[in-house]
Amino acid sequence: MKITSIKAWQIFDSRGLPTVEAEVTLANGVRGRGITPSGISTGQFEALELRDGDPKRFRGKSVFKAIANIQNEIAPALYGTSVFDQAVLDNKLIELDGTSNKSRLGANAILPVSMAAANAAATARNEPLHAYLGEGKGTLLPVPEIQIIGGGAHANWRTDVQDFLLIATGARNLEEVLEVTHNVYHAAGDILRSRKKYFGVADEGGFWPEFERNEDALDLLVEAICRAGYTPGREASIALDIAASDLYSVEKGRYLFNLENREFTSSEFIGVMADWCDRFPIVSIEDPLADTDWDGWREIVGTLGSRIQIVGDDLFTTNTQRISTGIEKCAANAVLIKLNQIGTVTEAIEAIHLAQSAGWQSIVSARSGETEDAFISHLAVATNAGQLKVGSFSRSERMVKWNELLRIQRDLGARAEFIGFLKPKQVCERKKK
Ligand code: PGA
Ligand code: ZN
Repeated sequence: MKITSIKAWQIFDSRGLPTVEAEVTLANGVRGRGITPSGISTGQFEALELRDGDPKRFRGKSVFKAIANIQNEIAPALYGTSVFDQAVLDNKLIELDGTSNKSRLGANAILPVSMAAANAAATARNEPLHAYLGEGKGTLLPVPEIQIIGGGAHANWRTDVQDFLLIATGARNLEEVLEVTHNVYHAAGDILRSRKKYFGVADEGGFWPEFERNEDALDLLVEAICRAGYTPGREASIALDIAASDLYSVEKGRYLFNLENREFTSSEFIGVMADWCDRFPIVSIEDPLADTDWDGWREIVGTLGSRIQIVGDDLFTTNTQRISTGIEKCAANAVLIKLNQIGTVTEAIEAIHLAQSAGWQSIVSARSGETEDAFISHLAVATNAGQLKVGSFSRSERMVKWNELLRIQRDLGARAEFIGFLKPKQVCERKKK
């Protein structure tokens, strides 16, 4: 089934910023669509997001160059290509761009075409996207990691730590996860309202209160879990995304908690997190250190890696070369997967497979600037990735992903599996089997 046309337009993401939508049409008239999300706490090793930079148009944020690249270069290059071989198609895109970080055409030109082609292929085969992408082998429903409080770059730095998340560690199925999350999320809102600290939500839908210390958010989370009637660490546990690259001052060579006027060396910063892990029911920490601090990553894996999940997001940027280095160095035990960090569907799937082959967990993730597209819910199931992180439990650009998971579960029927959150030791045991 051949591609006969590719078109692209500027549309808008959940922050109201321009982004790219592409549409692939096949010889039989079937169409597929892809939309690029956009991060704000982006890693320096990510594939390039091409913005026009013209202050007179959309404050420099328009994406007309990326759209022109789709129309003038990508469309003619893919014309007549079979849509059913995603890897061949994505390789053509990578070669056409010719750079190591997709900086010529822009990852925001390449990715929507890659996603649109996968969607068109699935429709042409009359299969749901997860079945097409996973060749029918994807049956594992991912455990949601759901933000309750947003901080960092997503919340005007109300806290230094970026995400305070909930993982329903005791849930036996997806419905229970969503029920626990619903109850804790709204309990947190009630507590904030009663303290006159309810100021709405941050970019990913998590609450955006005022705190004096980062730790106060951990206290609130524990309180909300209890208020909802659950036992912290049993039915519901905590995950953090420190997004530490944003907290690292190259000039000072220190990690900064500006909220608390505190500075830390790498080892001291690890000490803060080890202390939090002793006092709070934390099961996962993402980006605990900066994306250049490999020694710090090795140290934290040595200290906490057998107890909790240590996730590389900015450290790896969904890049198999960086993940391979991380595996060699034992610098983490889990990888965050973001489609637009690397720029094609095939490369994101390869990154998940690499993590799985090393016995690492993979967490498919949205961006802070999201859209109505639920591609990543399908990607998580297709690859048996195990976890899904899409922000909070409010706002439709987030809920669409959770709702789509419920639809995928219905679609899989008796084949759907749910194994819940696995601790590092359980991950190893599962791999040995
Ligand atoms: P971003 O943040 O999408 O703004 O980069 C998400 C994350 O750090 O996980
Ligand atoms: Zn992150």
